[in-house]
Amino acid sequence: MSKTDKIQGVRGMNDVLPADEAYWRRLEDVVADSMRGYGYQRIRTPIVEQTRLFVRGIGEVTDIVEKEMYSFTDALNGEQLTLRPECTAGVVRAAIEHNLTYDGPRRLWYSGPMFRHERPQKGRYRQFHQVGAEAMGFTGPDADAEVILLCQRLWDDLGLVGVQLEINSLGQAHERRAHRDALIAYLEANAGQLDEDARRRLHSNPLRILDTKNPAMQALVEGAPKLIGFLGEESLAHFDGLQALLRAQNLPYRINPRLVRGLDYYNLSVFEWVVDGLTICGGGRYDPLVEMLGGKPTPACGFALGVERVIELMRRAEPELAESLCDVYVVHQGAQAGVAALQAAERLRDSGLDVVMHCGGGSFKSQFRKADASGAFAAVVLGDDEVAAGEATVKWLRADDGAAGSGQQQRVPLERVAEVIIGFVQDEG
Ligand code: HAM
Repeated sequence: MSKTDKIQGVRGMNDVLPADEAYWRRLEDVVADSMRGYGYQRIRTPIVEQTRLFVRGIGEVTDIVEKEMYSFTDALNGEQLTLRPECTAGVVRAAIEHNLTYDGPRRLWYSGPMFRHERPQKGRYRQFHQVGAEAMGFTGPDADAEVILLCQRLWDDLGLVGVQLEINSLGQAHERRAHRDALIAYLEANAGQLDEDARRRLHSNPLRILDTKNPAMQALVEGAPKLIGFLGEESLAHFDGLQALLRAQNLPYRINPRLVRGLDYYNLSVFEWVVDGLTICGGGRYDPLVEMLGGKPTPACGFALGVERVIELMRRAEPELAESLCDVYVVHQGAQAGVAALQAAERLRDSGLDVVMHCGGGSFKSQFRKADASGAFAAVVLGDDEVAAGEATVKWLRADDGAAGSGQQQRVPLERVAEVIIGFVQDEG
């Protein structure tokens, strides 16, 4: 086979290897606990949705819909389908389809892979994972504050440091229209300073121009009319209400008037959590979306965090996080010992212990090396001597294993091995 025939993973789509499992598992555990703690129920929606869900939901003139979606025609029935680039639209579709808000508000959360055809770089992938929460049916800023507090709890429980909250208000559609008109007039008056992207967006989506990364346009963007100046009384009251609640919780935040988000469904409060210039989580209120997708008008807000980005921060905070493979490693030598070892391993598993039985032979010395590397706290050893006596040797493997001490061992009747090991765990616990 030539080198070019070698089959590799798709660019920007990563394998998550066992070495990273400890981080993923911790994140999943913390997320599941926190979501329960705030009354959120899990929902699992399909990875593939109809393309028009995202075109209508996220907005036609957004980076995601214009150039990042993995869309294809179903060869069997001609349907236009898309791998989900985010999950809010799918959750809202499911909530409408199954009438999930018929008896009042709902708090839903999800976790899973998303797909965007972006230029891969560190922290930016084509398949990435999000954890998100959507609170549907709540109007007041208390719901916005609650999803923000939920995020803060996640950062605390995951041990992340230096995560900063930025907030803004996008007001309501008519306020954005008034701002948009003023913005277009300002940008037209300065047309000579616009780059190609900005010229293309001038009339279709001028708000996104404020999000430009082009350094040459920063001064222009700085001087542009700010949306906050166009917000009416109600929008300002909502934004003030959110800020009062955040202050009452001692949750520091920064107002970022340039925070516009990359999806069109938002109104009123939007927020992002940022570390060293990288956004790890974004969200806000999206009251118009349910109606836009054909449901009864239902206010809503939520967020999604980028799992890979959060895991990178967890790794920075705790570089050595590792999971042990098992509690007990079974070491054995000799034909009869092999049979007894298989039985002993099953009995240990019956007692709820995680057990790796050595397979493939080898000297006791090399088997013990594997037992040590497995992270097990005990090895159960079976040789000819032990089998003849109907016993096993239990060897305690970890230096920090309290009274037992590393390397200490004891002979135990085969039928009492599980009891002795569990007794040890309970004493320690
Ligand atoms: P988003 O800002 O597009 O919002 O994505 C949320 C998070 O997903 C980002 O902050 C980032 O951490 C992560 N993310 C996005 N794209 C990539 C990528 N290519 N590679 C790695 N990570 C990425 C949404 O998706 C909204 N649905 C959030 C929301 C929920 N708003 C209300 N409810």
